[in-house]
Amino acid sequence: MSMIQAHALTKSFIGADQRDFLALGPIDLTIEAGEFVCIVGPSGCGKSTLLRLIAGLDTPTRGVLELAQPADAERPFNSMVFQGDSTFPWLTVQGNVEYGLRMRGLGLRQRDEIVNRMLRTVGLTRFAEAYPYQLSGGMRQRVALARALANDPEVLLMDEPFGALDAQNRTLLQDELLQIWERPTVDGNGGARKTIVFVTHAIDEALALGDRILVMSATPGRIIDEIRVPFPRPREVYELKRNPEFGELEFRIWQVLRQEVNAARRAETG
Ligand SMILES: Nc1ncnc2c1ncn2[C@@H]1O[C@H](COP(=O)(O)OP(=O)(O)OP(=O)(O)O)[C@@H](O)[C@H]1O
Ligand SMILES: [Mg+2]
Repeated sequence: MSMIQAHALTKSFIGADQRDFLALGPIDLTIEAGEFVCIVGPSGCGKSTLLRLIAGLDTPTRGVLELAQPADAERPFNSMVFQGDSTFPWLTVQGNVEYGLRMRGLGLRQRDEIVNRMLRTVGLTRFAEAYPYQLSGGMRQRVALARALANDPEVLLMDEPFGALDAQNRTLLQDELLQIWERPTVDGNGGARKTIVFVTHAIDEALALGDRILVMSATPGRIIDEIRVPFPRPREVYELKRNPEFGELEFRIWQVLRQEVNAARRAETG
């Protein structure tokens, strides 16, 4: 069975003028187990709204959303890496990463074992006792990623997780995420070939990371194009960018997206 299926899914909100406005949909989509799907679309088109619906943080207005049952009842269906900085400032790195495990009532030894493994995975072992304010932006995003991975969810939902980083840190983290995801499961890092839904506004990021890219329209966000990413794995971001096909695909997707970005801009400026 598919991991996520949506049929004619919509979400409306009450606007500032007190009227209903359709922010998202109708959306039809199917995401298979183990797929890395990237979603690109103009600002405000409903990308975060779609992730929030999948995460169960909000309810659809219409349509059906079907989610697979976790294989094991102890594991959560999803974990989210939120847009912007989503570390808890009052907890240490260790505290952040073990947060979900505590919520699930795991014992100290089991928590320590998982947290240590996750900190190794994201290269933050030396910073276990640090607080988020003592870290760089890239390190904080690593903490958020480790926290999500520690829960060992069926689906990892990532909302522009690297959007606020400088270009070098972004590339570094993209490569790290690729490594975590592409690595075989033997070392039990919790990230290997999970289903990932990754929202980004950057076409190159979507092409570097995803198996498939869904392009969304301006409000109300609908899926207007779907691209299968042909590049073999394991991938490395800068190696990939040397491939002329990368530039071709980036241009093709931009052709579609450009109209939507312009439409979104027109709607914003009235
Ligand atoms: N709780 C809410 N109440 C009212 N309107 C909302 C709410 N949440 C989102 N919206 C509206 O729904 C639309 C989609 O918002 P959303 O945050 O999903 O966009 P987005 O694609 O994630 O944008 P960005 O790329 O800027 O993050 C926007 O017009 C936004 O103002
Ligand atoms: Mg958003």
